[in-house]
Amino acid sequence: MATFEEDYARSLSDPDGFWGDAAEEISWSKKWDRVLDADNLPFSRWFVGGELNTCYNCLDRHVEEGHGDRLALIYDSPMTGQVKKYSYAELTDLVARFAGGLADLGIGKGDRVIIYMPMVPEAAIAMLACARIGAIHSVVFGGFAAKELATRIDDSKPVAIIAGSCGLEPGRIVEYKPLLDEAIEIATHKPTNCVVLQRPEVTASLIAGRDVDWADLMQAASPVACVPVKATDPLYILYTSGTTGVPKGVVRDNGGHAVALKWSMKHVYNIDPGDVFWAASDVGWVVGHSYIVYAPLLQGSTTILFEGKPVGTPDAGTFWRVIQDHKVKSLFTAPTAFRAIKQQDPEGKLIGDYDLSHFEILFLAGERADPDTIVWAQEKLQVPVLDHWWQTETGWSIGANCSGYGIKPVKLGSPTLPVPGYDIRIINEEDGKTEMKPGEIGVIAVKLPLPPGSLPTLWHNDEGFLKAYMADIPGYYKTGDAGYRDEDGYLFIMARTDDIINVAGHRLSTGGMEEVLAGHKDVAECAVIGAKDQLKGQIPMGFVVLNAGVDRDPDEIRKELVTLVRQKIGPVAAFKEAMIVGRLPKTRSGKILRAIMRKIADGEEYKAPATIDDPAILTEISEVLKQAGYPKGE
Ligand code: COA
Ligand code: AMP
Repeated sequence: MATFEEDYARSLSDPDGFWGDAAEEISWSKKWDRVLDADNLPFSRWFVGGELNTCYNCLDRHVEEGHGDRLALIYDSPMTGQVKKYSYAELTDLVARFAGGLADLGIGKGDRVIIYMPMVPEAAIAMLACARIGAIHSVVFGGFAAKELATRIDDSKPVAIIAGSCGLEPGRIVEYKPLLDEAIEIATHKPTNCVVLQRPEVTASLIAGRDVDWADLMQAASPVACVPVKATDPLYILYTSGTTGVPKGVVRDNGGHAVALKWSMKHVYNIDPGDVFWAASDVGWVVGHSYIVYAPLLQGSTTILFEGKPVGTPDAGTFWRVIQDHKVKSLFTAPTAFRAIKQQDPEGKLIGDYDLSHFEILFLAGERADPDTIVWAQEKLQVPVLDHWWQTETGWSIGANCSGYGIKPVKLGSPTLPVPGYDIRIINEEDGKTEMKPGEIGVIAVKLPLPPGSLPTLWHNDEGFLKAYMADIPGYYKTGDAGYRDEDGYLFIMARTDDIINVAGHRLSTGGMEEVLAGHKDVAECAVIGAKDQLKGQIPMGFVVLNAGVDRDPDEIRKELVTLVRQKIGPVAAFKEAMIVGRLPKTRSGKILRAIMRKIADGEEYKAPATIDDPAILTEISEVLKQAGYPKGE
């Protein structure tokens, strides 16, 4: 095997050779004509002319190669007390049959299918079944409310929606069907069918002629084979928060995705076929797509689908129990999960109750990994703790400590080095083109072309793709993150440059929340910021100015605002802090000074800009925050 440095250099100087070699690990029904087509940058396409089926590469292929008995997926649910194991042969049969059921509904190549499911094996089965018949899935996270689901229905125009009857949250059953029905009611586009998985906890009522029971569909269906699709055909659309309330439909292709993800399993995670890999995330997020479902299966390893939380299901030892019971080699989760565990079991006493002898590496991503959390995990688990940085848009890591080559020294607060395929530059925010020196913060950009697996465009929105990522720094992809590289080239990811915040590893748009608050009848104007939070990293905090003459009880209004965000965006927004203020701080040209409000809330030093309209407003904001207990710890 080449060294990391050799591979990194080759991936940039000879992308055709590098990724062409990686593509030999994938089974193609028709080989590509060109590895990389970068004739039309910023649009680029990988493995042009090639044909394959992603589901075939995830499942049938391993069975045909004699590994049908190997475990493909373990469902472990402390929420229901169940553990179910599926071999590659069993999972292939179930997926082939469900795909047959979808085909019986008339669903085929290029059709969109929304999947709105909790963390049950059927969620993965539904995704793989879509891939099998060339349908394009779009998974919507269960913590989103009806309106968010409706937006995704109208943008992707699905022929069908596959849903569970409910999700299980600690102490609460979330009925999905009423949310689904409401979303279809709100949406302009109407899907032809809904397939509903009836969970024992809730039996959803079905609408005759439209809704189909998952079990009935399976019973009537015959298994179908994999349909070859073009490498450049979309495998899925995954919506993610953009700088406005309208989510962006990130498109993932079939060919580049399969090649990059399979490559990443060995090189980034050091996982071989037969190893057990656990990504403790949710299938509704990109981590769940890439590392619960596709990558581990492409690699022929065993994946774990965990329906539970790091704490409270039943306690802060649940992760160690899962690692022990299923002989997990590596765990991938968000730092917030470890902060939650550390909060409940600061000494890590519960770790001693379990046999973690098979456990080798902890991977963290999804938000900045704070040094305290890393050090705690290192000390308590006695394994390497590797931060890595990536985004929904890229689908796999941009910066990582590629453990398959041998682990590089860890620097706290750094995800280590750019991953092969990513030519990362730190660009001066002022002029949008010169490069910063080591240690200087700038906007982080990737020189085009992006490697395979990264988004080729946004769903039916080339213009939005160009505007959001490609326009500001010509020739580069703008990541939306700011940071620096040190003298050794190590990356440090410090903050977003837009209005995206990261709440418990969940990516949310403050702009989206502002739109909701502005919709309240008593609100004249508002601003939402991401304030520091010990557990969740950030929490959203809203500031509203009421319409003149409103004299209702402010507590009532605050409660209504919190409820409104929960109803319109969903509980996952974790919006609990709404402050009523007399005025918002602005520049003379009317720009709201959100960054300064955030600094006040976090107790950081700030300097009022010369262009501020009225500095006295900052004192007013400080007062309101003080009364609400911010900054914390004062
Ligand atoms: N369906 C319905 N509701 C959901 C949901 C889902 N799939 N996921 C979360 N919610 C709800 C929660 O029940 C909670 O509701 P509440 O306000 O009634 O309590 C709300 O959304 C906020 O959830 P969350 O931010 O996750 O907070 P929490 O207090 O429930 O849990 C953690 C905190 C840290 C334990 C949890 O966020 C966690 O495990 N995070 C890991 C994140 C992760 O894996 N991210 C993926 C990127 S790698
Ligand atoms: P998502 O698209 O939900 O995966 O969120 C992507 C964003 O999360 C990135 O643009 C970063 O802002 C943040 N992020 C993800 N991983 C890391 C990390 N390891 N360090 C710092 N920020 C991260």
